[in-house]
Amino acid sequence: TWTMANFIETETASIREKVGNGKVLCALSGGVDSAVVAVLIHRAIGDQLHCVFVNNGLLRKGEADKVVNLFTKHFKINLHHVDATDRFLDKLSGISDPERKRKIIGNEFIYLFEEEAKKLGQVDYLAQGTLYPDVIESVSTKGPSAVIKSHHNVGGLPEKMNLKLLEPVRELFKDEVRLLGKELGMPDEVVYRQPFPGPGLAIRCIGELSKEKLDILREADAIVIEEIRKAGLYREIWQSFAVLLPVKTVGVMGDARTYEYTCALRAVNSIDGMTADWVKLPYEILGSISSRIINEVKGVNRVVYDISQKPPATIEWE
Ligand code: XMP
Repeated sequence: TWTMANFIETETASIREKVGNGKVLCALSGGVDSAVVAVLIHRAIGDQLHCVFVNNGLLRKGEADKVVNLFTKHFKINLHHVDATDRFLDKLSGISDPERKRKIIGNEFIYLFEEEAKKLGQVDYLAQGTLYPDVIESVSTKGPSAVIKSHHNVGGLPEKMNLKLLEPVRELFKDEVRLLGKELGMPDEVVYRQPFPGPGLAIRCIGELSKEKLDILREADAIVIEEIRKAGLYREIWQSFAVLLPVKTVGVMGDARTYEYTCALRAVNSIDGMTADWVKLPYEILGSISSRIINEVKGVNRVVYDISQKPPATIEWE
């Protein structure tokens, strides 16, 4: 009978056989798929696995530290951490078009990843968290979602670096990857993480980016997640997050007039991200998120809730 324990057994054996004494490279994004793949491969070949984690400065609050801690301290995986916050911000400065933001982030990531890989000398395999739905999708069409996913799957790199692909979860669905992660001893916080786009907070900070705006968004976003978790809703919601609008409005604080940014909340339910409906969050939760953001996040004086369906709206605002 097929069990997750058996899967781990046969898959690690097959990875060992395939890789031999070779070196495997894996890009960690902070997401579930790459994390599970890294832990699985590490179980098979230990220190022959090298992971690269690029902090692009567009991650959620505390995320980079969490990734580094989990992989180095807990799993003792070789992790090459590249803190490229300033570089990404630099490249993105003055850019407001969403697709240009994506392109810049994707290219910069590949560039840094290659740099890091070069330092490792001869690498034989590139590990990827390709899932079964990705396999079907990439053979059937090259539609918009293929474009969306192109950068975080490190497109083009394998050929360029003469690498073979190692895709140990390519026959699994998302829920199976989560179970695999559990079986491998990974924490719920990683295993049940809501999807997070590769370009990260860049496409949730509408228009031109700045360190100031990203910091505001990061704080607001952390409050959204905290309150959604506290309400016990985190796992049942597909995605819940904050968006920072480049719109300042008038408010009043004490006896002074304020003129600050507006923050939009987005919470959607979806099966596959292709269609989505906004979540009918209880008013009490909306209320506590709103008053916490306005009281605790300097730079925001107004919070609104996005009640648009996809289609015609998208899940992200950019
Ligand atoms: P949209 O906004 O198109 O989002 O309704 C559908 C799903 O895709 C995610 N998304 C992205 N993921 N890179 C990614 O890795 C991207 O550029 C990107 N854009 C959107 C979004 O978070 C949602 O889950």
